[in-house]
Amino acid sequence: QQESTVSITVVGASGDLAKKKIFPALFALYYEGCLPQHFTIYGYARSKMTDGELRDMVSKTLTCRIDKRANCGEKMEEFLKRCFYHTGQYDSQEHFVALDKKLKEHEGGRLSNRLFYLSIPPNIFVDAVKCASSSASSLSGWTRVIVEKPFGRDSKTSAALTNSLKHYLEEDQIFRIDHYLGKELVENLSVLRFSNLIFEPLWSRQYIQNVQFIFSEDFGTEGRGGYFDHYGIIRDIMQNHLLQILALFAMETPVSLDAEDIRNEKVKVLRSMRPIQLEDVVMGQYKSTTKGGVTYPGYTDDKTVPKDSLTPTFAAAALFIDNARWDGVPFLMKAGKALHTRSAEIRVQFKHVPGNLYNRNSGTNLDRTTNELVIRVQPDEGIYLKINNKVPGLGMRLDQSHLNLLYSTRYSKEIPDAYERLLLDAIEGERRLFIRSDELDAAWALFTPLLEEIEEKKMIPEFYPYGSRGPVGAHYLAAKHNVQWGDL
Ligand code: BG6
Repeated sequence: QQESTVSITVVGASGDLAKKKIFPALFALYYEGCLPQHFTIYGYARSKMTDGELRDMVSKTLTCRIDKRANCGEKMEEFLKRCFYHTGQYDSQEHFVALDKKLKEHEGGRLSNRLFYLSIPPNIFVDAVKCASSSASSLSGWTRVIVEKPFGRDSKTSAALTNSLKHYLEEDQIFRIDHYLGKELVENLSVLRFSNLIFEPLWSRQYIQNVQFIFSEDFGTEGRGGYFDHYGIIRDIMQNHLLQILALFAMETPVSLDAEDIRNEKVKVLRSMRPIQLEDVVMGQYKSTTKGGVTYPGYTDDKTVPKDSLTPTFAAAALFIDNARWDGVPFLMKAGKALHTRSAEIRVQFKHVPGNLYNRNSGTNLDRTTNELVIRVQPDEGIYLKINNKVPGLGMRLDQSHLNLLYSTRYSKEIPDAYERLLLDAIEGERRLFIRSDELDAAWALFTPLLEEIEEKKMIPEFYPYGSRGPVGAHYLAAKHNVQWGDL
């Protein structure tokens, strides 16, 4: 059997994502021995750079896992020797032909597999795909392309992008990344549910009162204002990251763990969702605030953001899945920038215990303490279940306690970055964690009418101070659906 080789070309190699995530993830895979024996990494970008300069740039971003410091430097050296740089325009066939030539030299006649990671702005996606596919595709093995969001900004632009990509690539060559799907606790969601007897039977409208998907960051859009203003938080976080988690959470049991089976079930959830009503959405935008003598900038203080921008940096929404399992259960989403904390979590609030004996007992007052399962995606990854428990002692006093699985205590291993898992999956041709085009269409079909209405009506976001808990409207929205946010 002919030996094979993988060439990974990071298109847009000098960008932020490449430096912060892609190269470090490739190195971590190398360190763990997950890359094939024969591999080459190419950085491709417009700026002139030598191989040495690329290596210098990349080396600054590499780290080793805490538990494996020993031969870290040596491994970095070895890894960097496999990294090269090619200067080229993103729309130049000629420059991709030159890249092809270099890749061939490294491949040395082995079976060639090629992965292109497009870490470039969306307006040049199609040009780069066209050039890569026609001038630098593998002739003997596979060619795959990883693309990053934004995949358009509504149904129409997304469909146009998909169509253009499909001129040059088959669907199974396109790997659309949603890096939240690569996060450890998101991967674990299905394990928790489908391989423990105690959760799945409760996973429905019969026992669950509401589900919350919460994303918050304690920093603003500084430095990314130009990009962000065109998209806003609903497109940046809700339509993809939170909706993807929701689909995984709510799907029926797939036939198998195969990518197509899982994605079939996720699409069904997305297509069963009720159109989102504007009354079920609250939007906010952060404003400047001064705390402890430090002034934090407002969203529109960013020079790349128009002063009168109405773009939301915070949004909360109530969504519903009109199917037999979830009829009437509110799925609440909340996402915001420049809030008081950084975290991402899933909260499942269960119903009251029917005829709870202990509620009848005047001293215990357990009215609001229903069970809640919390899956903390980040930081401090963990899962805990809030239960009612008797306070030890002679009386009968109950309080709420946590059955707690904190990853850092239970597992000594450091958790791999989402990009490591996703890059490895793309190399191995595993599509489970990537977005299929019909999933993308369904996600846009859900959000596009809402986004259009918000833009047409020029909805004004509620202001909230930088570093706060976001606009108070989010509480009214939850209360309207008889819910309290669990993260307060
Ligand atoms: C990106 C968004 O997709 O995810 C950013 O565009 C956001 O706005 C980021 O900051 C959050 O990712 P993580 O992995 O840092 O939570």
